[in-house]
Amino acid sequence: MWPWKRKPKEIDASDLDLARLPRHIAIIMDGNGRWARKRGLPRTMGHRAGVEALRAIVKECSRLGIEVLTVYAFSTENWRRPKEEVGVLMSLLTEYLRRELDELHANQVVVRSLGGLSELPLEAQIELKKALERTRKNNGLILNLALNYGGRAEIVEAVQKIGTLVRQGKLKPEEIDSETFAAHLATAGLPDPDLLIRTSGEMRLSNFLLWQLAYSEIVVVPELWPDFNEHCLNEAIKAYQKRDRRFGGLSGS
Ligand code: IPE
Ligand code: IPE
Ligand code: MG
Repeated sequence: MWPWKRKPKEIDASDLDLARLPRHIAIIMDGNGRWARKRGLPRTMGHRAGVEALRAIVKECSRLGIEVLTVYAFSTENWRRPKEEVGVLMSLLTEYLRRELDELHANQVVVRSLGGLSELPLEAQIELKKALERTRKNNGLILNLALNYGGRAEIVEAVQKIGTLVRQGKLKPEEIDSETFAAHLATAGLPDPDLLIRTSGEMRLSNFLLWQLAYSEIVVVPELWPDFNEHCLNEAIKAYQKRDRRFGGLSGS
């Protein structure tokens, strides 16, 4: 059924420092179109292959005991793509949730989402709601699906919510601080990403988690998303573990 096959491989995570894993990994899954073009396939086949990469990475994060994995699956700007491609991306989402929900649930994964769900096709909304509801009480990996997500839209929405509280007299403008602000974002209650991975070599944020990525370590890898596997993930985590996170302070302080 698939025009390609993932190579079965032995994963060796033994050289990872398991005591210093990132709590939250965010991924910009980029390069599906280029992956397909390289093979003379339509872009949509790249997206199909991308779903398989996602399955493998979710499993690996869950196995490693990562707390949160946030994946950028569809941006507020991706609506600019041809209607057919958008349609395929949406049906792949529906298909992914239908196919994977039992296994995700069995592995204690908590499915969550970021972004404007009401603009997604009804079918996708239904599957997503089902997944959110069914996995709500699990205690494993939190899988955050960023769908119709944009960092600027998220910030604007937070400002609107805070503005309403101020108007209602429930909050004073001088009481608004970073914590109050973060509590009104879609990621409220979650730690900020420690590690941001972007595949396919592009060095930009493309409107992803603009607030939350303030101090994340960024690892850009050349692999196109469908080629990104467990080994690539381990390498990215290793690169992260070599970084000196100073948060504006001094090394080792
Ligand atoms: C990422 O791959 C998937 C989405 C943005 C939905 P692209 O479709 O952006 O692939 P390229 O960047 O064109 O290769
Ligand atoms: C970012 O990739 C969005 C997702 C991965 C969902 P894009 O391919 O849309 O980003 P640009 O257009 O190259 O910045
Ligand atoms: Mg792209």
